[in-house]
Amino acid sequence: MEKFILNGKLVDRSEGYVDVEDRGYQFGDGIYEVVRVYNGQLFTNKEHLDRLYLSAEKLSLQIPYSAEELTKQLQELVTVNQLNTGIIYMQFTRGTAPRKHQFPETSHLTFVAYTNEVERPIDHFEKGVSAILVDDIRWLRCDIKSLNLLGNVLAKQQAAEKGCYEAIQHRGEIVTEGSSSNIFIVKNNELLTHPATNLILKGITRQVILKICDEHQIAYREETFTIDDLLHADEVFMSSTTSEVTPIIQVDQQKIGNGTPGALTRQIQKYFDQEIEKQTKQVETTTEK
Ligand SMILES: Cc1ncc(COP(=O)(O)O)c(C=O)c1O
Repeated sequence: MEKFILNGKLVDRSEGYVDVEDRGYQFGDGIYEVVRVYNGQLFTNKEHLDRLYLSAEKLSLQIPYSAEELTKQLQELVTVNQLNTGIIYMQFTRGTAPRKHQFPETSHLTFVAYTNEVERPIDHFEKGVSAILVDDIRWLRCDIKSLNLLGNVLAKQQAAEKGCYEAIQHRGEIVTEGSSSNIFIVKNNELLTHPATNLILKGITRQVILKICDEHQIAYREETFTIDDLLHADEVFMSSTTSEVTPIIQVDQQKIGNGTPGALTRQIQKYFDQEIEKQTKQVETTTEK
C-alpha cells in the first residue's frame, strides 16, 4: 500500500482525511511545492525547499521542520513508495480552526506529502506543443506558491477545451507566464523571460535554465516582452518541474518560427539533461561514501 506523509508521520494513503474546517480546504490558505524525482533521487530539492520557506514567510506560516528534517522525510517517502521517476507533492496549510477569515490565534499547520509516478514527457520535448493566449486574471502575488490556483485552473481549462497544452497569460500587452509554467522566447539567439517580480512564480526550472545560460555563454535578459514579440519570436518554450523544457510551436493557431522546436531550445534541453545526470550522480556518490 502506497504511503503518504501526514504531519510528519508515514501513513497508509487510505488513512488520510481533511478536516472540513481545514483552512487549506476552505480558503486555499496554504502553500505547496512539487519536487521532481529521477532515478529515485530528488532533483533541485534545496531550491524547492528554499522557495517553500520563502512562500511560508510571505504568508506568516511557520513550518515546524528544518530543511534537513523535511528532506529526510521526503527521501524516506520516495524509498518506501519505491518511486523511480515521478514527483513529490507537498503542502502546508494554516491548519484547522473555526471558520473566520483572519488568522486563528492557535492552529497547527497541516502537512501532507505524497508521491506520484510521472514519466518525462519525451514526446512533447521532441515534437513541441501548442498554446493559447489568455488574459492573466490572477491576483498580484503570483510570486507566492499558494494553494489558490483558480485563475490558473480556468486558464488551463480554456487551453484544454481548445486542444492545447498550455495557456500563456498576459496583462495587457505584456506576457507574464503560463498557467503552470514560465515562458521563454528566443530572438536573434537571445533568450527573454519575464523578470521575477510579484507577477510570476520564480520557477526553479527557470532558475536552472538561467544557470545553464551563464555556464554556456547563452545570452539572456530577464525583461518583459509583448504578445507581438512572442508571436514573432524565432523560438518559444515553456519551463516547469514536470514539463522541463518543452518547445511551444504554435500559439493561437499561429506557427512560431517554422513550426518546429528551435535549435537553441534543443541545445538547452540537452544541457538540462546533463544537469539531471550531474545531480543524480552527485547524490549516488554521497550515498556510496
Ligand atoms: C504559475 C506557475 N509558474 C511557473 C511554474 C514553474 O515553476 P517550477 O519550474 O518551479 O516548476 C509553475 C509550476 O508549477 C507554475 O504553477
